[in-house]
Amino acid sequence: MEISGPRGTRDILPEESYLWQKMENILHQAAQQYGFSEVRLPVFEHTELFERGVGDTTDIVQKEMYTFTDRGERSITLRPEGTAPSVRSFIEHKIFTKAQPTKWYYMGPMFRYDRPQAGRFRQFHQFGIEAFGTSDPDIDAEVMAVMVRIVKTMGISQFQLHLNSVGCPDCRPLYRERLIQYLTPFERDFCGDCKQRFHKNPLRILDCKNPGCQEAVKGHPALSDYLCDRCGQHFEQVKNTLALYGIDYVLNPQLVRGLDYYTKTAFELLLPDLGAQAAVGGGGRYDGLIEECGGPPTPGIGFAIGLERLLTAAQKQNPEAWQASYSPVDVFVVTAENEFAPDACSLLEEIRGSGMKADKDYLSRSLKAQMKFAGKTGARLVIVIGEEEKKKGYFVLRDMKLHEQRQIPADQIIDEIKSILVKPEEEQYAE
Ligand code: HAM
Repeated sequence: MEISGPRGTRDILPEESYLWQKMENILHQAAQQYGFSEVRLPVFEHTELFERGVGDTTDIVQKEMYTFTDRGERSITLRPEGTAPSVRSFIEHKIFTKAQPTKWYYMGPMFRYDRPQAGRFRQFHQFGIEAFGTSDPDIDAEVMAVMVRIVKTMGISQFQLHLNSVGCPDCRPLYRERLIQYLTPFERDFCGDCKQRFHKNPLRILDCKNPGCQEAVKGHPALSDYLCDRCGQHFEQVKNTLALYGIDYVLNPQLVRGLDYYTKTAFELLLPDLGAQAAVGGGGRYDGLIEECGGPPTPGIGFAIGLERLLTAAQKQNPEAWQASYSPVDVFVVTAENEFAPDACSLLEEIRGSGMKADKDYLSRSLKAQMKFAGKTGARLVIVIGEEEKKKGYFVLRDMKLHEQRQIPADQIIDEIKSILVKPEEEQYAE
């Protein structure tokens, strides 16, 4: 029986994984430019963390978690997101006793039992940042600036940053009451999920994608009209700092996000060409979460980007930079006779030791077949070792890009291939 990968998972094969490495370099660099340091956290946690952290009325906790009982009878869950685990780690290691704020970033696989479709997987990858320990509105703007810088660096120019304030425990109850009053006449028309949300978490009805629900909420009261003074002032300053950074945004009073922990600022980055899965990333402030998870009262804010969606968007909007054209090696060494294999091995190690990628044939192919295989690898240079070459102390160097070949004295071969392959920094950036 042939065993295929589980539904909703995908293999990232070498032709694509090198694009992931390129994307990951951009992510590390962007986060570090803004003073965020990487944390690497486990992919599974105690189930209770997500029940408490993400919230038990959310879709994630109600129907999307990969939860199992381990051999020690503990309930374990594969992480569906990275914020609650970051908070757990922040508390467990008493990071709150150090100078604040704490600025962390992470990337890695997340797991949600979602219905698989384009841009939606059961194992997917996120890059996220979290800033703990400050409620300064400038950090809200900074967190959004990181997100915008990432998409721009990837070459994505068509996107919208949607922004809202979802208030705080002081101002939300009154709004909730008004919203319930407004929504009551429509209750019968809601989808199954929203019928439940109506009682547990009516704000979530605002961003339901079901057409019937969208129609019902069209004239809903806006949360921004109910913000308390503190939330209102905070929101104003976030907008001012965004303007200072030159970041455009769209005010979206319907944006409430699908996780329970948000307070004040909530935002999402939407891309026109991702279809139904238009959100490439989202985040917001969560000033009560650290306390909820057992830490001292500490504000926090962050976002996460879905990396499958980010790469798809980059490939659509900036195809030249993100098309798959992978060459595993720069140099391929071929031998006229099998007896020169030891010479090929020594030369290969010398090339690799000089920092370049090189390989040879391992199937005793004929010279012609080796040349053909070398072409398939996409190597820029091919070096030929044969009787004549060995006797006279030179190699034949073939440039597959320029379609020319030359004889190079053996003691100059490394410098010669370096001069072709290793470009000065200015030229690399000019590309
Ligand atoms: P989220 O909106 O649930 O937020 O997920 C963030 C991003 O992860 C989404 O915008 C999407 O790109 C990607 N994503 C989510 N589910 C899937 C899926 N099934 N398949 C593919 N991609 C997916 C969070 O996770 C919050 N922890 C973000 C945050 C950090 N808020 C504050 N700090």
